[in-house]
Amino acid sequence: MRILITGICGFVGSSLARYFQAAVEGIRITGIDNLVRPGSEANRSKLRADGIEVFHGDVRVPSDLEELSAADWVIDAAANPSVLAGVDGRSTSRQLVEHNLMGTVNLLEYCKRHNAGLLLLSTSRVYSIPALASVPIRVERRAFVLDAKQPLPPGLSAEGISESFSVAPPVSLYGSTKLASETLALEYGSTFGFPVWVNRCGVLAGAGQFGTAEQGIFSYWMHAHAARRPLRYIGFGGAGYQVRDAFHPEDLARLLLLQIRDTQAESDRVYNAGGGAANSMSLAELTSICEERFGPHAPQADSRVRPFDLPWVVMDSGKAKRRFGWEPRRTLASILDEIAEHVHTHPGWLNLCEGMALKEEPYRVSTS
Ligand SMILES: NC(=O)c1ccc[n+]([C@@H]2O[C@H](COP(=O)([O-])OP(=O)(O)OC[C@H]3O[C@@H](n4cnc5c(N)ncnc54)[C@H](O)[C@@H]3O)[C@@H](O)[C@H]2O)c1
Repeated sequence: MRILITGICGFVGSSLARYFQAAVEGIRITGIDNLVRPGSEANRSKLRADGIEVFHGDVRVPSDLEELSAADWVIDAAANPSVLAGVDGRSTSRQLVEHNLMGTVNLLEYCKRHNAGLLLLSTSRVYSIPALASVPIRVERRAFVLDAKQPLPPGLSAEGISESFSVAPPVSLYGSTKLASETLALEYGSTFGFPVWVNRCGVLAGAGQFGTAEQGIFSYWMHAHAARRPLRYIGFGGAGYQVRDAFHPEDLARLLLLQIRDTQAESDRVYNAGGGAANSMSLAELTSICEERFGPHAPQADSRVRPFDLPWVVMDSGKAKRRFGWEPRRTLASILDEIAEHVHTHPGWLNLCEGMALKEEPYRVSTS
């Protein structure tokens, strides 16, 4: 089997490449990355050392893809993955659309040319912001929980947000580039007869993620806590009760393999993938875990209200379970253990994530 992974030097792309290389005998993995994400460069030589072919190229440039040999499957993991992309002054809205949507169009042309299947990594951010912002919640201990006794909108249950939840705009510019990519991918697949699977991923987390305050929050929070960087609970009263679920790229890789190996004729090709309610926690709870491991460091309350912030996002992956027998195996606790270990062995990691040199100074860990 030949696989092309775009964004192969990113957190998810590199994790998937390593998993597939170990799990699938005789696989040939090729990847392309423009190294725009600070930190990605660090993965290039490691992947090459593992026998994976890595090209420095850009999915926005059709001729960069023409250089690549034919693959049986393409995993689209190249994107500007932040919900603030296109509006935070770091990238323009046009750049976001070029990376996330035009890049997908170029990949679809590649799939058409080589009759390759496409595994699209979409996002929970395709779901409607006003609908998500108004889900009924209450506070339990130090976290928001869904108040399932209240009337719930279609597609929402105690299990979380399912595929039938509203995708009505606004969903953010980032979310809309992914939703438009989904539509085009399904359309190309049906028109030109190649398989397409769309996976709407919740938060992915693990060691080696290039976390920032805007994206990769679990990794960022733990590294920032240990490094005594200023941390802020933004919005929702500034108490840090906002909740996310998370899952590990290894579990995503297992789902992608099930889809690659699927032989049933299937018209329904859109699936949620996430950690689910059992693997969710609030920022305040995450802070407690950081305090146990790295000593005290209190985040500041910040009462700002920002349009893309959401109080509670938990993905219901029940459809993937029913269809593929898939559910995440890695618990959030094990993912946090893995990140904590990485924090200890990679002091200064956030410098790398911000495009600066990696400073290898040991952390002072105190529990008092
Ligand atoms: N990490 C998450 O929590 C999460 C959640 C949902 C969906 N996703 C999706 O998963 C995919 C991978 O995310 P990630 O967390 O690994 O992000 P990442 O930023 O770590 O990796 C993305 C990689 O793509 C590369 N890239 C960006 N634009 C490119 C271009 N035009 N051409 C070639 N390479 C380019 C970057 O250099 C980077 O190495 C994205 O599509 C993202 O939207 C991620």
